[in-house]
Amino acid sequence: MNVSQLLQFVDRLVVERTGKHLDDVQRAVVEGTWERQTYDDIAQKCHVSKNHVGDVGAELWQLLSEILDEDIKKSNFRSNLERVYIESSDNSNNIYHINGSNNHFYPTQISNQISPRNKLNESDINTQFTSHFDLTVAPQIINFYARESEIKTLSNSILNQNTRLISVLGLSGIGKTTLVKRFVDLNLKQFEVIIWRSLKFSKPLELFVNDLLNACKQEAKETIDDNLKQFLDVLTYKKCLIILDDVHNIFANAQFAGQYKSEYQDYKKFFTMITETEHQSNVILVSQEQCAEMECLDEELYPIKCLELSDLDDVAILKGTGLKDEDSWLKLINLYEGNPVYLKSIAILIKKIFDGEVAEFLAENSLIITKNMQDNFNQLFNKLSPIEQQLVLELSKFNQPVSREYLRQSLDLSSMDLINGLQSLQQRYLVTKIKEDKILFKLSSVFQEYVKNCCQD
Ligand SMILES: Nc1ncnc2c1ncn2[C@@H]1O[C@H](COP(=O)(O)OP(=O)(O)OP(=O)(O)O)[C@@H](O)[C@H]1O
Ligand SMILES: [Mg+2]
Repeated sequence: MNVSQLLQFVDRLVVERTGKHLDDVQRAVVEGTWERQTYDDIAQKCHVSKNHVGDVGAELWQLLSEILDEDIKKSNFRSNLERVYIESSDNSNNIYHINGSNNHFYPTQISNQISPRNKLNESDINTQFTSHFDLTVAPQIINFYARESEIKTLSNSILNQNTRLISVLGLSGIGKTTLVKRFVDLNLKQFEVIIWRSLKFSKPLELFVNDLLNACKQEAKETIDDNLKQFLDVLTYKKCLIILDDVHNIFANAQFAGQYKSEYQDYKKFFTMITETEHQSNVILVSQEQCAEMECLDEELYPIKCLELSDLDDVAILKGTGLKDEDSWLKLINLYEGNPVYLKSIAILIKKIFDGEVAEFLAENSLIITKNMQDNFNQLFNKLSPIEQQLVLELSKFNQPVSREYLRQSLDLSSMDLINGLQSLQQRYLVTKIKEDKILFKLSSVFQEYVKNCCQD
């Protein structure tokens, strides 16, 4: 949502309620609040007193609170309006209507189509419980920048196309969890059940499904098969959103990407069941590694989708860090591949050693790998299979992308190992394919710097 969409949206709400369009000061208050300006800034811009702006603001928040039936104030205006806007514009199942009697907004009923297969099971499940959200382990999102198109993709896949299994993938720290939580915050009203779980401390599928049933207020049965069936019934009768974060923890170390640890093989069947069974719910998998069950060749035909996160290139990500030389921020962001966690780590270092002077840091002309990054990359490197480690060490010697033929000649690898190794590194988002005259492969430059400095033995 940009500021002109916001102005149009608020104007439409106000006209429907009062019959009058926003006046100039009201427009300035909406625009300024969206841009996080103070009443003082807004007053100076429209050449009126700060008190007048404050009064106009207070009246507007009151009016919007009545229209939306929510407590709208300056501090929550941006996040609430953004959410209501997305809910009303993106979701064809949930178009917001103005209630004739009191002009409150309310969503229309969520469709509840039950297939014949599931009608047979209706008596088996506890359909009495009403809306239920279990977000205790989900992070709280305070700042959220950019990624509007990713939010739109998620909204479209989940709310419009009803994609049953959607994976949000990318390197550690790129913003997967943050994006998904933001989507959840914006769409609470679209689901009857929302459950957020992390597999950071993974458990066998049996215990995990029991935990999910518990969270859905269902009594677990004796066998894993019955419990799985019970869980699928819940997904059928209720519009549920289930988020499984940190899924990469169920994949094995020292093997190609996306290979399940022996004790977690059952998850493979679980993900397939969620995709292949007809139901009305959505499951989001969040992972640093892609596995076969997350891939789909034809998004039109298949109820699976993959959202791969790339660099975050918005300078807003460095706001509030205390860094100086704003003109150099984009360069710093590009150097650290738009990864918010690398940027946070380097921002701390620049403040300590360069007194926040970004230009002075960049003048050193080197890509510094902080201790935090090193720890993170050590784990990542140790997770690689021996073939991938060989490939990474070789790729790290070049500043240019390298062809498959070159790698084949320089490494003593069979064609099969080479190709599978390259695919696996892509499934971990460490290597990207570049198509010029030839097909070339390039290592993530921050990871490359780590490999050059820390892995040569
Ligand atoms: N769009 C964003 N706007 C603002 N901050 C963000 C955004 N995306 C990520 N961040 C910041 O970057 C940090 C890392 O993001 P997040 O935890 O979502 O990464 P991740 O991809 O889930 O990493 P991991 O795979 O290690 O779990 C968060 O703490 C958050 O502060
Ligand atoms: Mg995460």
